[in-house]
Amino acid sequence: MAGRGSYKSWLGAIGVAAGGLLAWGVFSSFGTPAVGQPIEFPHKTHLAMGLQCTGCHQRAETDAAAGRPPTELCVACHSGEQLKPELKKLQAFGEGGEQIPWRRVWRLPPDVFFSHRIHVAAAVKCQTCHGPMETLDRPPPRPLKTLSMSDCIGCHERWEGPAGDGMMAVKRVGRRVSTDCITCHR
Ligand code: HEC
Ligand code: HEC
Ligand code: HEC
Ligand code: HEC
Ligand code: HEC
Repeated sequence: MAGRGSYKSWLGAIGVAAGGLLAWGVFSSFGTPAVGQPIEFPHKTHLAMGLQCTGCHQRAETDAAAGRPPTELCVACHSGEQLKPELKKLQAFGEGGEQIPWRRVWRLPPDVFFSHRIHVAAAVKCQTCHGPMETLDRPPPRPLKTLSMSDCIGCHERWEGPAGDGMMAVKRVGRRVSTDCITCHR
């Protein structure tokens, strides 16, 4: 009864999707306070131009923190007299020689150790942990996606090497990542 089997698996899939949406809604709406940014920076416009995530967040490849791009990088493209209000603000930071005071949105408790470099080198995609940043017209007031301890451990337990989205493993490397408490709690 193939038809019946697939009907059931569809129901299962809908259940999972609904549960996911519910969790997403609860965490994104009530879990954390909304953060405002000094400039309404649109990720979407910039990624549509073909810029890479690490083109602006360069430190993700070398450091624990991913960092934000320096004002000089922004004004290299947005130079000269600006007419749009958000770009006038950018121009003022540039002329003052100031870094833009971006505020943090994603944040782990202080006792949890996390390093971008290790994950980026292992080819885990940014979006696996941050969600679809390339769709944003304005800065996210809250994380699009957050990682609980079981999300971190879940991936470490079944990691077998990079694949499509970094979550689904291809049987190729077959090596687990440490899940000892001390790996993340230092
Ligand atoms: C043109 C430069 C640029 C590119 C390219 C870019 N970003 Fe950003 N990103 C920024 C700036 C500026 C901010 C701070 C404003 C904001 O939150 O939108 C930021 C903020 C973020 C944050 C929020 C960090 C926090 O906690 O405050 C994440 C996550 C992020 N970017 C991920 C990505 C990913 C993933 C990509 C690729 C899909 C990407 N960025 C591409 C400039 C860029
Ligand atoms: C590679 C070139 C490039 C870089 C680097 C770049 N931008 Fe842009 N940005 C553009 C282009 C092109 C547009 C779309 C056309 C426009 O609005 O000028 C744009 C649009 C914007 C807009 C939307 C303006 C509006 O109101 O429509 C903002 C805000 C902005 N950029 C801020 C920044 C900031 C802040 C940085 C540095 C973190 C940055 N840009 C880095 C090229 C760039
Ligand atoms: C394995 C999950 C994971 C991956 C992959 C990942 N991040 Fe993050 N990112 C995090 C976590 C967790 C935090 C919060 C870290 C903290 O509070 O110490 C964070 C914080 C950030 C921040 C803000 C704080 C900082 O480090 O400057 C930016 C910006 C950021 N990530 C961008 C990126 C970009 C760009 C990529 C891809 C090149 C990426 N991340 C890949 C999990 C991830
Ligand atoms: C999508 C998969 C994935 C997720 C989600 C993920 N990690 Fe990892 N993590 C990896 C991989 C793969 C490595 C190993 C890279 C290597 O050894 O080459 C790693 C390594 C690490 C290491 C270094 C381990 C060591 O032996 O030194 C730490 C620390 C770490 N992760 C913390 C975290 C934390 C904290 C989170 C959640 C906020 C997290 N990771 C989420 C895939 C993931
Ligand atoms: C792969 C990374 C990772 C490993 C391994 C890990 N944890 Fe965690 N743990 C986390 C993250 C991330 C959080 C914060 C989750 C959040 O903010 O929701 C956390 C939170 C906690 C907390 C809540 C207090 C706090 O720090 O926020 C406790 C208690 C804890 N972990 C204990 C443990 C113990 C005990 C082990 C070993 C059996 C362990 N953890 C292994 C990543 C890890």
